[in-house]
Amino acid sequence: MRRKLAAGNWKMNGTRAALGTLEALSRAHTTPSVDILICPPATLLAAAVEAVAAFPLAIGGQDCHAETSGAHTGDISAEMLHDAGASAVILGHSERREAYGETSETVRAKAKAAQATGLMTLICVGESLAQREAENTLDIIGAQLALSVPDTSTAQNCVIAYEPCWAIGTGLTPTPEQIAEVHGFMRTTLAARFADADGMRLLYGGSVKPANAAEIFGIGDVDGALVGGGSLTPRDFSPIINALESAL
Ligand code: 13P
Repeated sequence: MRRKLAAGNWKMNGTRAALGTLEALSRAHTTPSVDILICPPATLLAAAVEAVAAFPLAIGGQDCHAETSGAHTGDISAEMLHDAGASAVILGHSERREAYGETSETVRAKAKAAQATGLMTLICVGESLAQREAENTLDIIGAQLALSVPDTSTAQNCVIAYEPCWAIGTGLTPTPEQIAEVHGFMRTTLAARFADADGMRLLYGGSVKPANAAEIFGIGDVDGALVGGGSLTPRDFSPIINALESAL
């Protein structure tokens, strides 16, 4: 049985004032029946870990470097995230693939380093609108999975997030049939490589809101969500967590 996961990606949002948001969210979910993870900006990591220390809420990073240390100005290693108290890291988000030219090979190297450090990796995959319109979605997802997910992945240290690029921050979402098709494909693809693929959690991400969460969580092989804008306030994220708990 896969434990569901509600993950929030705050992206480049949040100053110290946002720590109050985390405390409010924690107080609203003291005994959750799903895993809850918030990935704040790196500047807030250590303070966020401290703020939720008494609660069952996990804190993660949004990216890491593949190397442990060295001359990489501006970068953060997996070991540093772990040292700050993070238990997970998002890797291969489409915003990083697009804005920084991150390839799947780079994502795999980062994921390998993060898993070796003991972090759970949330590896993102997803097609562009042009790729979907050209009916290349499954080919793209298959190639991203093959190249981005390291052999060291297990049901414990690896979560895959399907985030169609055209659904991120746009208010657009795929149809339930489209999500089900990709998630079913991902499960089958992972099963060909990993003995415990049945236990790997597959998240959907892209414009998840309180209004559409229940429908999305009712789709087979959707084990939770990676939420951007809808994770920034308890007003939005709490109902999403509740919807995931109800979908059990
Ligand atoms: P939105 O929920 O804001 O569409 O962002 C999704 C996302 O990119 C999460 O990683």
